[in-house]
Amino acid sequence: MLNFVKQNSQAIKMHIRPRRNRKNAVIRNMVEETNLGVEHLIYPLFLQDGKGIKQEIKSLPNNFRWSLDQLLPEIDSCIRSGLKQFVLFPAIAEKLKDKVASHSYADDNFYLHVIRELKERFPEIVLMSDVAMDPYSSDGHDGLVKNGEIVNDETLIILGKMALAQAQAGIDILGPSDMMDGRVGYLRDVLDENDFTNVSIMSYTAKYASAFYGPFRDALDSAPKSGDKKTYQMNPANKREALLEAQLDFEEGADMLMVKPALCYLDVIHLLKENFNIPITAYNVSGECAMVYAASQNGWLNYEATMSEMLLSMRRAGADGILTYFAKDFAEMVKR
Ligand code: PBG
Repeated sequence: MLNFVKQNSQAIKMHIRPRRNRKNAVIRNMVEETNLGVEHLIYPLFLQDGKGIKQEIKSLPNNFRWSLDQLLPEIDSCIRSGLKQFVLFPAIAEKLKDKVASHSYADDNFYLHVIRELKERFPEIVLMSDVAMDPYSSDGHDGLVKNGEIVNDETLIILGKMALAQAQAGIDILGPSDMMDGRVGYLRDVLDENDFTNVSIMSYTAKYASAFYGPFRDALDSAPKSGDKKTYQMNPANKREALLEAQLDFEEGADMLMVKPALCYLDVIHLLKENFNIPITAYNVSGECAMVYAASQNGWLNYEATMSEMLLSMRRAGADGILTYFAKDFAEMVKR
């Protein structure tokens, strides 16, 4: 019987056996195609005016609204874990919101103050902003609402003022997330005319009208007061349209193109990576991270393994950089 089995297995001829390249960890590491490190990650932080504030976001556990004094030690601890890239979002008091988002470029806007302070105290970090009206808009939309319509060109003028104020405060990268037509070129002109040729634009290029932004809107209290964002954000059914958006942003001078959300849109990340020779980034949005937090709190998924696999999949799809709420946990995991 033994003889028979042996003979038989010797008879199986296979020249190509993929498992040989997986036979031990050294070989597996040598042939690994995708790498993921803390240098690829950008950490989103929510800011609030005031003192002593570190308020957890209910639908996004372990993420907080920070006042500047509480944020400083947090940034310090991120840097010690090797994490040096941040994207900042402001939660604005309701009474400061208006139709035209005027507080976004007001002298006493705390968001601009935080940018200045952080750049001064931590010169080695890279800061990215959000350019869109929604945190400052009494309508909760990314653009100016007139007779129930989100008007494009008048919004650009407001975004230009907001972007210039952020550049003056010392931001490294502008992140226009509004999806108005022509905004990248318009903002590039505003920057260049004011001698901010060194300020980069990471454009939210293929930003979809997604259900995965819920926890983010909770964090900022920024949900639209009426209607939805489907007249400016992209239809989740569309992929070729992402190429058009990417071509426009590229020609208008974007330095990097972002796809958002990431997890359900890996095909779009891949498509842009294949077609454009500038860095592609992905936004692993609040709802995607919330799913992992919830499942792991229930003991249904292993947190570190799941989030690492998700981030790796985005890198494999073609993302150079990833905006993710997992950034700090990932950095600390790697450090251990
Ligand atoms: C707003 C903006 C949104 C996000 C980033 N910038 C929400 C929206 O478009 O409604 C979502 C990010 C996330 O869900 O983590 N311009």
